[in-house]
Amino acid sequence: MPNFPTLNAMDVRDKRVLLRADLNVPVKDGFVTDATRIERLAPTITALIDKGAKVIVMSHFGRPKGKPDPDFSLQPLVEPLRKAIGGREVVFATDCIGEEAKRVVGGLRPGQVALLENLRFHKGEEENSPDFARALAELGEVYVDDAFSAAHRAHASIDALARLLPAAAGKLMEAELAALTAALDTPKRPLLALIGGAKVSTKLELLRFLIGKVDVLAIGGAMANTLLMAEGRGVGRSLCEHDMAETARQLLALARERNRRVILPEDAVVASELVSGAATREVAVDAVPSDAMILDIGSKTVARIGMALDEARSLVWNGPLGAFETPPFDRGTVAVAKKAADLTRAGKLLSVAGGGDTVAALAAAGVGDELSYVSTAGGAFLEWLEGRELPGVAALMAAQAQGARK
Ligand code: 3PG
Ligand code: MG
Repeated sequence: MPNFPTLNAMDVRDKRVLLRADLNVPVKDGFVTDATRIERLAPTITALIDKGAKVIVMSHFGRPKGKPDPDFSLQPLVEPLRKAIGGREVVFATDCIGEEAKRVVGGLRPGQVALLENLRFHKGEEENSPDFARALAELGEVYVDDAFSAAHRAHASIDALARLLPAAAGKLMEAELAALTAALDTPKRPLLALIGGAKVSTKLELLRFLIGKVDVLAIGGAMANTLLMAEGRGVGRSLCEHDMAETARQLLALARERNRRVILPEDAVVASELVSGAATREVAVDAVPSDAMILDIGSKTVARIGMALDEARSLVWNGPLGAFETPPFDRGTVAVAKKAADLTRAGKLLSVAGGGDTVAALAAAGVGDELSYVSTAGGAFLEWLEGRELPGVAALMAAQAQGARK
């Protein structure tokens, strides 16, 4: 586990606490369609309230281009945030720095909560500008980072600011790092990585890093088509990165060299069109018709992954195993998700999953909260699986080192 200061050890009574959150949640017509990130942030806010802090929540939302844009206002988040913290009032500041922010923050009493407008309305945020960080720092006395899902961004509220004030990780940050460390750095073995999704090209670094870490690597989704093609199989009209054949062969050779077990699909669900309720057939991977598309793993592959799960003691999962948004091509993903949930419930498996599509797939399978840990992070989870240092985590570790020197 990275060494960083935590909220528990921090004295925040009567203090203005700048809390970096990730309220970058899906919103449609002004309503939050998935409140997971808000709900997972709530315990940190509640803990701060209970400790008598003045809580100043800051976040980015969407990708406005460094200037105010009403489409990306955080105002619609006030009500969902209020609900998530048991109905306590949340005051909104229409700017995250300057006089307006100071006025709102200045009016807070211990145990009260403010939400600042979108950090990305200022270009200094994404530029990691020291001036912008100083303007934020003026608002608070201590800094708490609870935005693991934005930790891969070296932005001012994540990097520069953490170096200006006494800093600590919030409870969600702590839980994310504890879960990922338990699964990937100090796992009970065998450790199985289950990787799906559309493209090998976007997950090359991740696959290379995982080959160094795991005992078994199981691959599904359209990216498996590229690996099958690289081994000389016909994949018909399936989604497949034909120009990645050589790279795919190198990956498989690397896995063999390191004595890793690689599970590729042995059978597949094929159809001539990716439409809901399409007529499907299950075929062996060496018998994919030239006019068909592979859209899911077949039942033999599901069983094989199931056996690997039975043997495994830890699981890291990223990416759906088929075109899960379009039934019946969700069946493979759902079956594997249920199996992982059963083993987790029985105490036989530590299971950690993350990445945008993965979380949606697990929710669709009805097991969204039945794995050991489902990360709130998309890109940050992937970068962690690539073995990269996340700027948000690095800044907290630097704060720890600085504290130790004092
Ligand atoms: C996310 O949703 O992945 C994070 O909030 C980061 O957002 P970004 O990709 O716009 O930086
Ligand atoms: Mg993203």
